[in-house]
Amino acid sequence: MSGDSNGRREEWGSRWGLILAMAGNAIGLGNFLRFPVQAAGNGGGAFMIPYFISLVLLGVPLMWIEWGLGRYGGSLGHGTSPAIFDALWKNRVAKYIGILGVFLPLVVLVYYIYICSWTLAFSVFSAIGSYPVVQDGSAAVSTAAYLAPYRAYLNDYIGASSGNVIFTPLPIAYLFFVGTLVLGMAILGKGVAKGIEVLNKIAIPALFIMGFVLFIRVLSLKSPLDPNITAVNGLAFLWEPDMSGLFNAKVWLAAAGQVFFTLSLGMGAIMTYASYVKKKDDIALAGLATASLNEFAEVVFGSTIAIVAAVIFFGSEGASVIARDGAFSLGFISMPAIFTHIGYGGFFGFLWFLLLFFAGITSVVALAQPAIAFFEDELGWTRRRSVVTLAVFFFVVAHLPMLVSGALDEMDFWAATLGLVILALFEVIIFFWIFGADKAWEEIAHGGRIRIPRVFFYIMKYITPLFLLVILVAWSYDQLPGILSKSDTGVWAARAFLLALLGAHVWAVRVAWRRRRMRQFAQVQS
Ligand code: PHE
Repeated sequence: MSGDSNGRREEWGSRWGLILAMAGNAIGLGNFLRFPVQAAGNGGGAFMIPYFISLVLLGVPLMWIEWGLGRYGGSLGHGTSPAIFDALWKNRVAKYIGILGVFLPLVVLVYYIYICSWTLAFSVFSAIGSYPVVQDGSAAVSTAAYLAPYRAYLNDYIGASSGNVIFTPLPIAYLFFVGTLVLGMAILGKGVAKGIEVLNKIAIPALFIMGFVLFIRVLSLKSPLDPNITAVNGLAFLWEPDMSGLFNAKVWLAAAGQVFFTLSLGMGAIMTYASYVKKKDDIALAGLATASLNEFAEVVFGSTIAIVAAVIFFGSEGASVIARDGAFSLGFISMPAIFTHIGYGGFFGFLWFLLLFFAGITSVVALAQPAIAFFEDELGWTRRRSVVTLAVFFFVVAHLPMLVSGALDEMDFWAATLGLVILALFEVIIFFWIFGADKAWEEIAHGGRIRIPRVFFYIMKYITPLFLLVILVAWSYDQLPGILSKSDTGVWAARAFLLALLGAHVWAVRVAWRRRRMRQFAQVQS
């Protein structure tokens, strides 16, 4: 155990700080970029019903499970799943399964931090007015032509031109990446209460204010296409219930996957944050509060801002086309295109990208903390050594998604689409089936400021794992063949990296447990 100078594990400074930190963990680029793309790309209203069902049957139960696992681990001096699984399940493989809870967030962070740096850069570019401004915003212009200058701007920045395997980002893109990395690591270097908590106490309230301003502005946008199109059409696109989604496996998979990603579940990130909660403190209400704040940011701000704006400017067909074009078109292409065509566009563009940056940086630190906790708790490293090691690691490996085309998507698939479902399944099985459902329930309920309805006991024990299993099978069936048949350079580079990193994790766990046995042996001897 280590963490601070007197050898005690760190703790959150205040209850509000904890809740804001957890909200910052969950609220991220996923809420503002991934959600609108998933929702619009899967039929809008057709997506929302599977989304809400997944939220209740997977999202909220797993949120409580991860809080429970984390607080339990923290009380034993451990903040990551290798040690937590090992404590719950006396089996040699438990700690190796737990590796996922350190490995997955690291993999996601390798590209997440780079994307986060674009948002900072673009907020600065908007503020200083270096965005392309297109005069002809008339209805006659086609969506594609309208967006072309903004697409070109993004592609220039990241150095992507179609067909090229190697990207050549602008030097400024590189600078912003390094700046974001240094900032994130500096915050982590200050620790849980003085670094992460302080950041979130500023960033999350600011994010809600900016979200509110943009929300109001977007609702009052006027359509250049047709004066009859208003925000109501944009809202209807998402909120007009469409039962067809219920019978479409692809929509279910997308909805469940989004619930996981947006709530930071199945990654170990919530568990690690929860390990810094005091043993007697409430987690039932705090866990629910985290999920609620995230959902507010997601379905109110995240959906409305990007989708309604796109529908008003490009029609619902146009919005779907943009969404299907990939995760970045809505946020980095259509939003700036819209903003530069309205009054004070530079200001609203600045707000939009700054909001993304705050959402992103608070998730960056959440994705990094599991590795730091592992170094501190299991290897006995100091915080300084842990943070410096990570900074060097990210600086080197982020070049992979930055420079090699195809690597980002491959890493995203294995970690953020498939991996998190696997870890979540193990979390439920180890907690509710191996450790024991009654004890697990008691762990979660202990100290609670609210009583979780008993029906969630049955949901957690039976429905959540079954649902996860079905998703896993359907997903593998649906996506694995396509993924496995890819074989470009970027894909292979990403796979080689993932295997090497996994190997390093196995090695680190072996070293940690060998030391632990030696320590126990020495104690018995003395
Ligand atoms: N939930 C974050 C988002 O919506 C991403 C994230 C996933 C952060 C897992 C931490 C852990 O962007």
